[in-house]
Amino acid sequence: MALALTMDAAPPATSGGVNLAQQIGNTPLLDLPLPGTRLPQDVQLLAKAEWYNPGGSVKDRPALAIMQQAIASGALRPETPLVDSTSGNTGIAYAMIGAALGYRVRLYLPENASPERIAILRAHGAKLVLTDPLEGSDGALLAVRDLIAREPGRWFYADQYNNPANVNAHYETTGVEIWQQSGGAVTHLVAGLGTSGTFTGTGLRLRDYNPDVQLVSVQPESPFHGLEGLKHMDSAIRPGLYDPALADRQLRVSTEAAHELARRLAREEGWLVGISAAAALVAARQIALEQADLGQPAVIVTILPDSAHKYLSESFWQV
Ligand SMILES: Cc1ncc(COP(=O)(O)O)c(C=O)c1O
Repeated sequence: MALALTMDAAPPATSGGVNLAQQIGNTPLLDLPLPGTRLPQDVQLLAKAEWYNPGGSVKDRPALAIMQQAIASGALRPETPLVDSTSGNTGIAYAMIGAALGYRVRLYLPENASPERIAILRAHGAKLVLTDPLEGSDGALLAVRDLIAREPGRWFYADQYNNPANVNAHYETTGVEIWQQSGGAVTHLVAGLGTSGTFTGTGLRLRDYNPDVQLVSVQPESPFHGLEGLKHMDSAIRPGLYDPALADRQLRVSTEAAHELARRLAREEGWLVGISAAAALVAARQIALEQADLGQPAVIVTILPDSAHKYLSESFWQV
C-alpha cells in the first residue's frame, strides 16, 4: 500500500537522519590559556578550534565546497571518482563526505603519513596510493598529476592546491565566523600555510570587513620539518592559490618550538592541539607579546587546524 504523506506529516524517522554537511563550520572561538605567557587585559589571543568539525579538521570546509561545486557542475559523478593528493586532513574530509554523499574517493599520500590518518581514511572506504616518503607531499602531488595525464576523463581531480573553491570556502565561512564571533574586534589574523586556502580566504574576508586587519602567515623555519600540513614555500611546489603579497608579515616557526608548546598545552592546560595548531600559536604568541610591549591593544585570532589525536604516535610526546 502506498504511503500517503500530507504536508503536515512528521518526516519518518528513517528519512536520512542528520545532514553531515550542515555540521561543518561554526566552530568555537576559544580564549585559550597560553602556558607561561601573561598578557595585559587589552591584548587578547583567540583561537578557532577547527577540530570541532565532524572530520576533525579545518579541511572539512574546503573539501565540502570543492565537492559541492563539482557535483553541481557535473564534474563529480558516481562513475568519475574524486582523486587528489593530500597529507591527510583533506583526504579524511573527502572520504567522509564521499561516504555520506555516495561518491568514491582515491587519495595519493606519502607513505609516512601518520598511521592514525591512514586508518581513518581506510575506515571511510577511500582507496589509497602511498607514495615515496622521501618525496613528501610534493611526491604525492606529482603522482596524481601523472595519473590525470595518463587517464584524462576518468577522474574528478579536486586539486586542492589550485582550486578556487578552497579559498572561497574560507571566504564564505571561516572569515565570516571570526568577524562575528570577535564582534568585529579582530585586529590580527595568524594562520599557517599549506595550500594557503585558510590564510587567503579568511584573510581576504577580514580585509573586506576592515582593511586595517593585519594578516600574518606562518611557515616552517626549514625545508625539512615536522609541521605536518604546513609548507616551506621557498622549497616546496608553490600552490597556485598562494599569493606571497597578501601577508603583512611572514613568520617562521621551528618544529621544536611547536612540539614544546603542544606538550605544555596538553600537560598544563588540558588542550590537546595538533602540531600545526601549536605552530600557529607560537606565532600568535609572538605577535601578542609584541603588541603588549608596544602597549597597543589587540585582538589576535589564530586558526587551529586540528587536534593532537592523529599525532599521538609521534615521539615528542614522550619527552
Ligand atoms: C594539520 C594542518 N594544518 C594546516 C593546514 C594548512 O591549511 P591550508 O591548506 O588551508 O593552508 C593543513 C592543510 O592540510 C593541515 O592539514
